[in-house]
Amino acid sequence: MPIDPIVRLTTLRKEYRGGGGVVVAVNDLTLDLPPGMTVLTGPSGCGKSTLINLVGAFDRPTSGTINVAGTRVDTLENSKLDQYRRTTVGIVFQFFHLMPALTVLENVALPGELAGMGTKQAQDRARELLDKVGMVPRVDHRPHELSGGEIQRTAIARALVNHPKLVLADEPTGNLDSTASERVMNLFAAITAEEGASALVATHDPDVVTRADRIIQLRDGQVVSG
Ligand SMILES: Nc1ncnc2c1ncn2[C@@H]1O[C@H](COP(=O)(O)OP(=O)(O)OP(=O)(O)O)[C@@H](O)[C@H]1O
Ligand SMILES: [Mg+2]
Repeated sequence: MPIDPIVRLTTLRKEYRGGGGVVVAVNDLTLDLPPGMTVLTGPSGCGKSTLINLVGAFDRPTSGTINVAGTRVDTLENSKLDQYRRTTVGIVFQFFHLMPALTVLENVALPGELAGMGTKQAQDRARELLDKVGMVPRVDHRPHELSGGEIQRTAIARALVNHPKLVLADEPTGNLDSTASERVMNLFAAITAEEGASALVATHDPDVVTRADRIIQLRDGQVVSG
């Protein structure tokens, strides 16, 4: 029996207008992603971040359609966007956006509380995930009291709190050396798999993700291989 794709993109196009004219960042891209971990790679400017932002509903496409786990994302009403971004997808931002005044535990629990979990339930779930990423000894630290790798692991735990079907990550190892990057990516692959989530990861460096199920190479907003 064929497996339903977790992400389905159909003639997806994103044009940016302004400045020096029109930039076609995503150029009529059609793609089905099976469940599991997919890595998006390719040179600077090829459209990786644009694609992540479209799938995460941070931006609207110029044309084409986006389906994620059965939700039609490109036409989602504004009133449903927050819920989609909080529960269907989990997001690891490039600069992580941890709240500086909150502890590690509070940061990870926050999306759970925003999605309607009580504080106790959200913190229990946060502890479960922080245990998986080896952050229990640091739960009461604030972000400025963490190393780069610890910040990344906290951000990964936070992205999983609401049991997302798909975790999106844009350059999640951008400022780590290659050993630390590999360690974080292996952890990311293991935890998303354990949690039953698929993942879509944009990175310049496909070598850091040896455990990807699929590697897609982009150039000029189109798929060149994968
Ligand atoms: N808001 C914007 N307005 C105009 N052009 C944009 C905008 N955002 C991105 N672009 C252009 O769209 C193209 C794709 O950008 P994108 O950020 O998706 O690339 P990327 O593959 O993530 O690159 P990098 O590896 O450097 O992060 C680039 O040519 C970029 O200049
Ligand atoms: Mg980018």
